[in-house]
Amino acid sequence: MTHIEICDDAATVARWAATALIDDLRSIQQSGQTGVWVAAGGSTPAKAYEIIAKEDAHQIDWSNLYILIGDERCVPLSHKDSNWRQLADLLLAHVPVSASHLLRPPMELGAIPAASRYAEMIAQLPGEDTPKLHHVWLGMGEDGHTLSLFPGEELAEHIGAQLVAPILDSPKPPPERITLTLNALRGAEHCVILATGGGKRPALTRALSGDLALPIARAANTVERNGGRVTWVLDREAAPISH
Ligand code: 6PG
Repeated sequence: MTHIEICDDAATVARWAATALIDDLRSIQQSGQTGVWVAAGGSTPAKAYEIIAKEDAHQIDWSNLYILIGDERCVPLSHKDSNWRQLADLLLAHVPVSASHLLRPPMELGAIPAASRYAEMIAQLPGEDTPKLHHVWLGMGEDGHTLSLFPGEELAEHIGAQLVAPILDSPKPPPERITLTLNALRGAEHCVILATGGGKRPALTRALSGDLALPIARAANTVERNGGRVTWVLDREAAPISH
């Protein structure tokens, strides 16, 4: 099921993302399960992390939650470009998370070993065929990439069977990264796509009209084909004219 939410501005998109996360986690935790949240790199998630840390932290049982990141760059954890560092600085440092439930990709190993180790970590999560990812945030670049899945890659054939893939030649720096694959997204229950700013409108127009050449559209399609929900949360500048 697809839902498109159009917000006035980027701050409202971030507020919406925070609320959607809390709503899903509360109902999962109240049903007795340990929640699994896939956080994201990028500017809109950063704003949402700050909102959760400042306003909403008390609404989540942090001891009953696994936290992952959808993709990561091959940089030291102390580097400003580390997606995990952004998450840690803006959110994890301010809430009572359980260290054993933080699934941080070990980028210090290098992209190829980090991808296999991260895949092993994720494979431990509950799930039947694929680990269950209750709530997944995805950003999108102006070229329609999501995670570190870029247009032109053989998304299904090349990295289809793994949960995590190393990327050695990303067109967006830095070139070496790891990323969840489309296969991992088969386990997504609710995927929230966050995109703001006029530069993203052309790719969103293509993606929402079903152009599966774009990784973001492939990601959304994969989630839906496997029974998950997708919510696109866009600001007015990013939203296609027709919406
Ligand atoms: C990365 C990101 C990437 C990001 C998009 C959107 O590590 O490069 O995970 O996929 O989410 O490029 O980024 P912005 O929200 O900053 O535009």
